[in-house]
Amino acid sequence: MSDLHLPKAGTIEVAPSILSADFAKLADEIAVIESAGVKMVHLDIMDGHFVPNITMGPVVVAKLRRYSNLVFDTHLMITDPEKYAPDFIKAGANHITFHIEVVDKPEQLIDRLRSLGVTVGLCLNPETPVNAVEAVAPLCDMILVMTVNPGFGAQQFMPESAKKIARIRKIVGPEIRIEVDGGIDTQTTPIVVSYGADTLVAGNAIFGQTDRIAAIEAIRKAAQ
Ligand code: DX5
Ligand code: ZN
Repeated sequence: MSDLHLPKAGTIEVAPSILSADFAKLADEIAVIESAGVKMVHLDIMDGHFVPNITMGPVVVAKLRRYSNLVFDTHLMITDPEKYAPDFIKAGANHITFHIEVVDKPEQLIDRLRSLGVTVGLCLNPETPVNAVEAVAPLCDMILVMTVNPGFGAQQFMPESAKKIARIRKIVGPEIRIEVDGGIDTQTTPIVVSYGADTLVAGNAIFGQTDRIAAIEAIRKAAQ
């Protein structure tokens, strides 16, 4: 377990998603974004059940931990976060986000994850209404709003889903981060920031560019 923490709310953070990076060169890809001054990297964990795609497990996260001092913002797109989250925490995850759609007792899982030393995020899919997270959102460190159906990078931004950000911001106030994930680029960034998002996941918009550092800068600029 590492002592890195999710940055306190109040700043805009870009969280590059390595889903669109070259998986054969992950350590190098992460070193490049680290040199751009980002504080966190978004790790998309997929199990082939909750989403129709499979990415990486704790073994890969543990190896990457040795090469990076970034906050590992770990997005569990898996049907059994209760079972597997501890393995990702042991591997070096600093923040764990789970999906509300697969957890019956979110309060219990939030407490358990905190007791294991990480900050906690709660994620909702595009079709999941805000009232599904209303009661537990104030207990979290970050809420993750999906603006694509999870599973793949480089999909088209869903503007209707983004509107949920404004309602969630009203519910959680200024001290809890709101992260947005899916189709974030220089065009969509001003929209989600105007709704109250402060944590911007971007995969294709960064790793789809040859110059990843310039791509991160462009998103930061679009957020101003
Ligand atoms: C999608 C993942 C995202 C993905 C975003 O299921 O949760 O984090 O990498 O990719 P882009 O930014 O390309 O839409
Ligand atoms: Zn993600």
